[in-house]
Amino acid sequence: MSQSQTYAPNPEFAARAQVKSIEEYRALYERAKTDPERFWADLALKELTWFRPFGQTLEWQAPFAKWFSGGKINASYNCLDRHLTTARKQKPAFIFEGEPGDQRVITYQELHHLVSRFATVLKQLGYQSADRAIIYMPMIPELPVAMLACARLGITHSVVFGGFSAEALKARILDLNATVVITADGGWRRGREVRLKDAVDEALEDCPDVRHVVVYRRTGSAIPMKEGRDHWWHELDAQLSNDPFIHHEAENCPAEELDSEHPLYVLYTSGTTGKPKGILHTTAGYLLQTAITMKWIFDLREDDVYWCTADIGWVTGHSYIVYGPLTAGATCILYEGAPDYPAFDRFWQIVEKYRVSIFYTSPTAIRALIKQGERWPEAHDLSSLRLLGSVGEPINPAAWEWYNRVIGKERCPIVDTWWQTETGAIMISAMPGAIPTKPGSATLPLPGIVADIVDHNGAPVPANREGYLVIRQPWPSMIRNIWGDPKRFQEQYWSRVPSAYFTGDAARRDEDGYFWVLGRVDDVMNVSGHRLSTMEVESALVHHPAVAEAAVVGKPHEITGQAVCCFVTLKQGDWNHQVLGNELRQWVAHEIGPFARPDEIRITDALPKTRSGKIMRRLLREIVTTHAVTGDVTTLEDLTVVTKLASQQDEE
Ligand code: WT7
Repeated sequence: MSQSQTYAPNPEFAARAQVKSIEEYRALYERAKTDPERFWADLALKELTWFRPFGQTLEWQAPFAKWFSGGKINASYNCLDRHLTTARKQKPAFIFEGEPGDQRVITYQELHHLVSRFATVLKQLGYQSADRAIIYMPMIPELPVAMLACARLGITHSVVFGGFSAEALKARILDLNATVVITADGGWRRGREVRLKDAVDEALEDCPDVRHVVVYRRTGSAIPMKEGRDHWWHELDAQLSNDPFIHHEAENCPAEELDSEHPLYVLYTSGTTGKPKGILHTTAGYLLQTAITMKWIFDLREDDVYWCTADIGWVTGHSYIVYGPLTAGATCILYEGAPDYPAFDRFWQIVEKYRVSIFYTSPTAIRALIKQGERWPEAHDLSSLRLLGSVGEPINPAAWEWYNRVIGKERCPIVDTWWQTETGAIMISAMPGAIPTKPGSATLPLPGIVADIVDHNGAPVPANREGYLVIRQPWPSMIRNIWGDPKRFQEQYWSRVPSAYFTGDAARRDEDGYFWVLGRVDDVMNVSGHRLSTMEVESALVHHPAVAEAAVVGKPHEITGQAVCCFVTLKQGDWNHQVLGNELRQWVAHEIGPFARPDEIRITDALPKTRSGKIMRRLLREIVTTHAVTGDVTTLEDLTVVTKLASQQDEE
């Protein structure tokens, strides 16, 4: 095993950090381990504002957890109202920059005002606690406003990433049984309009339960509005002032007193089947852990300008642009567009302009920027930065070193944060003032997180051996259920290995106890830090009239980590392979969303199958990664299929 370099925490940083030394980290970790309920209960009382304190800390009947039972709380109140009695009232909550360059600074007080008004709009439309809203918006302030307005009333929201297609949107609306859709005419991406309302119209053709669509005007382009169903956000807002009673209410819409376990949101993510699963997060535990990690990991201070470059449509944005930072009272940058528009220095321009101090992005973004050369960051003053973060996939040591040298100027700690949609908050990461880092390792589990590496039977594996990454004890921000599918929830997470949460990742732990995440062990790809199921792409492909069978695997890609590689067999017909290949790539982008567009379509005569007829994706994975097949092929029905596929590869 190659010995990698270790970077001790920067002493200047450590001196002012929230957690200042490895001893302090270990003491916290031990305290959490000895009495986890006490540990979390103390934090919950300290970090959150309660309408009524909880009785029991944890009710655990695997896989079902209830945290902080009996407590009454509201996420929107914790993100907004409680800051208004402090100096944070006038502090910017969001500094927004649109892709075209438009700017808005929104203080906590102003954000509270916007949320209060929009919550009243939703009430006026007849929505209340236990309704469900789909939010399909660009990265503009009204996206968090819509989320927080839902949370204020107890409406469970599900944000659908704007890069998803009408088909994908429809599947989510139906699965969630949503009754309202909140959207915009469109948003800006690389100078072009992403027309969101068009996709909503297409999706809603067969969604009878959606009574209203609220449309925010962002791009100003012409869109059809369906009488009785569609409403302009600004028109509904203007109507609030017509009635003095409603006007008063809108200015101070009370936050509902909700149970700790009230369903805050559902976020769909790819699993091992073709059907995305709706990950359910609830209120108190989720808020607690997203907020506390803002302190532990991002070392948040009152004067920080914090920027997480993720899209709010993914969990990173939910936890580390909206709920975590706002609960902790941070100032967050919100940027609408692409990192490379109009040029490759857009990120660095924003860092310089707003004096960003904490910067959190993905290895994919870093690698894409490395490719453009150092002159782009060098043209900007990055001296405001004090901490860098990475998330979404393992960061390769070369990218880590570049990030450290070119962006952090070797003075900013780097936190490589491992977590998942299901975990709600960061699980394994350095605490920047306390834990020495090693490029490529997420380092150590946070206090309260009992991570382990085990074999099929759940037995721990020795140091430096690969195994399944599991978490042994429940934690407050953990997934509560799969929306509408408790059976799948039970099978997926707490029964794969005995009495542990199964992450689906492979990892090893080195002699210092550091975790090195190796990647997924299931049929899930990680493309640009976004989870994508091979089955989802396969089912999109077999919908196409020309395709008989499809097998999809992730293939290594220098920028996106993995790229989508599809093997397809065709139905009888006279197909032009070149034309069809392009058409199929386009087809998948249309069925799922542009981010799922395959890198490669390989049209072939046959797919390797077992004697029982199962496609052997493992062999295809090997072909695209190592260009040969070395593993066990004894269950293969027809060996020539594989030799043919492998040699086809060599010819390319
Ligand atoms: C999967 C979760 C919540 C993060 C955004 C993606 C991979 C995530 C790391 C990391 C190595 C990582 C894992 C995980 N992953 N962060 N720092 N090092 N791998 O959320 O879509 O739920 O995907 O992303 O494979 O299981 P997600």
